[in-house]
Amino acid sequence: MRLALSIGRRGMGQTWPNPAVGCVLVKDGRILARAVTATGGRPHAEVQALAQAGAAAKGATAYVTLEPCSHIGETPACSQALIDAGIVRVVAPFEDNDSRVSGRGFGMLQAAGIEVTLGICAEEAAIDHAGFFLRNDTGRPFVTLKLASSFDGRIATATGESQWITGEAARKHVHGLRASHDAVMVGGGTARADDPMLNVRGYGARRQPVRVVVSRRLDLPMMSKLAASAKDVPLWLCHAPDADKMLLQTWQGIGATCVECSLQGQQLDVASTLQAIGKAGLTRVFCEGGGALAASLLKADLVDELVGYTAGLAIGAEGLPAIGAMGLSNLSAAPRFKLAEQQTLDGDVMMRWRRASK
Ligand SMILES: NC(=O)c1ccc[n+]([C@@H]2O[C@H](COP(=O)([O-])OP(=O)(O)OC[C@H]3O[C@@H](n4cnc5c(N)ncnc54)[C@H](OP(=O)(O)O)[C@@H]3O)[C@@H](O)[C@H]2O)c1
Repeated sequence: MRLALSIGRRGMGQTWPNPAVGCVLVKDGRILARAVTATGGRPHAEVQALAQAGAAAKGATAYVTLEPCSHIGETPACSQALIDAGIVRVVAPFEDNDSRVSGRGFGMLQAAGIEVTLGICAEEAAIDHAGFFLRNDTGRPFVTLKLASSFDGRIATATGESQWITGEAARKHVHGLRASHDAVMVGGGTARADDPMLNVRGYGARRQPVRVVVSRRLDLPMMSKLAASAKDVPLWLCHAPDADKMLLQTWQGIGATCVECSLQGQQLDVASTLQAIGKAGLTRVFCEGGGALAASLLKADLVDELVGYTAGLAIGAEGLPAIGAMGLSNLSAAPRFKLAEQQTLDGDVMMRWRRASK
């Protein structure tokens, strides 16, 4: 199952709106086949593994990181394919929470006389599938918030200089995380200040994450890398209903997708923004700031994981804080996270924190 999970992880960021599932077929102590959900979500891992194994699949055990599907969509149900191939046992962590599948896939397998073993590596699998499950349950994607800051928690100098606070190893690590998410999201402030490209570089030919920019009126620079590449790499602009119609058409004309979201006061309502992009299929979003958007997401309790890179430099109080004003007066109201991982990357420290359960 651990091998199946590690294979499944390779598909993260590649398979939305479907989950990235790993499948390993084993017979007589030998691995016959291994597969991950294909880019774009189809074909599913089980069908690919069965095709690799061919007739040898008869009598094998399938280790699958999520319940095999039972519904006939664009492809036949994976449960039926496992039955037809003569699989004798299916091992999985848990049921799918997609209402079209939940329990039905296992039911089909058991009705055909296949032994089903559940609960294996359920904790690890729950982390891997958190985005898919969260979107099914709540409508919004999983949100990872990344910030690269100085020792004193600043993300730019007072003049706005922010490139580069951390070193090359940390930046490479960021590209790896971008690659494992369906989308990279920034606020309009970062799009205006940094002229970012927000794509994945150095990880081979992969499906690029969708670039999401949150900007009420869409007053974003047209002479920018985002605009110049909108036809080639998906660019979704989340805007309010009062965005200028001409600007909207101009952005659509150069290839951007405009997503209308609700307003809350003077800014976009971050909850409705996440609902809108979740509805469009995104399950895992990597938010790279800046400080204002980070504060809005944290204040609304919409951050599931924090990834912080800390560099050994001090910028001082006049620098831009990593996280903008949150209007908190009591510590008890502050969102809490638990340390899940830490490592040094050349001279920088990376820390990953997961939402503490309430
Ligand atoms: N070191 C790092 O990791 C890092 C990462 C990112 C950015 N930065 C730096 O951070 C600076 C930009 O940060 P920032 O805080 O000024 O801007 P930001 O968070 O990137 O963007 C804020 C803007 O997003 C739009 N927005 C719409 N709805 C919002 C909402 N609910 N909450 C917050 N923003 C909303 C608004 O612009 P509209 O008027 O367009 O709606 C707002 O002005 C730059 O200097 C950049 O270099 C550093």
